[in-house]
Amino acid sequence: MLPLTNEERHFLIDLAVETRRRAYAPYSNYPVGAALRAKSGKVFTGVNVENAAYPTGMCAERTAVFKAVSEGEREFEVIAVVTENGGSPCGSCRQVLAEFGLDTIVLIADGEGKLVQETTVRDLLPGAFTPEKLVKK
Ligand code: THU
Repeated sequence: MLPLTNEERHFLIDLAVETRRRAYAPYSNYPVGAALRAKSGKVFTGVNVENAAYPTGMCAERTAVFKAVSEGEREFEVIAVVTENGGSPCGSCRQVLAEFGLDTIVLIADGEGKLVQETTVRDLLPGAFTPEKLVKK
């Protein structure tokens, strides 16, 4: 696993804490913030964006990944995810993260910025369905 310094961890977690304030979550009242660092060193934030038509909403982690990919990034090192109670990324977000690498580190923190779990996409999504299964190289 990529060695992360405490400074790096807390930079991303603190950014996700701040970003979470911009979540649009009037229906669940469960704001989520994410901060994703690409191999380039650039960092992309994301929040959950809900909708009156409930299934149309989007999670914070996927917002961050889609923003990053839209800006030309495809390789990621670490994502910090902040919720009030240190909730874990949902299955859809795990799958979207897995598309771009199983080694991405996932920092899960609570609303105060306390790290509750440090793991990887590989560990969060055992037996992941990945692009190699589909794309002929
Ligand atoms: N949510 C996220 O943003 N990320 C997750 O991994 C779990 C769930 C959001 C979706 C919805 O807006 C709210 O949290 C409650 O499910």
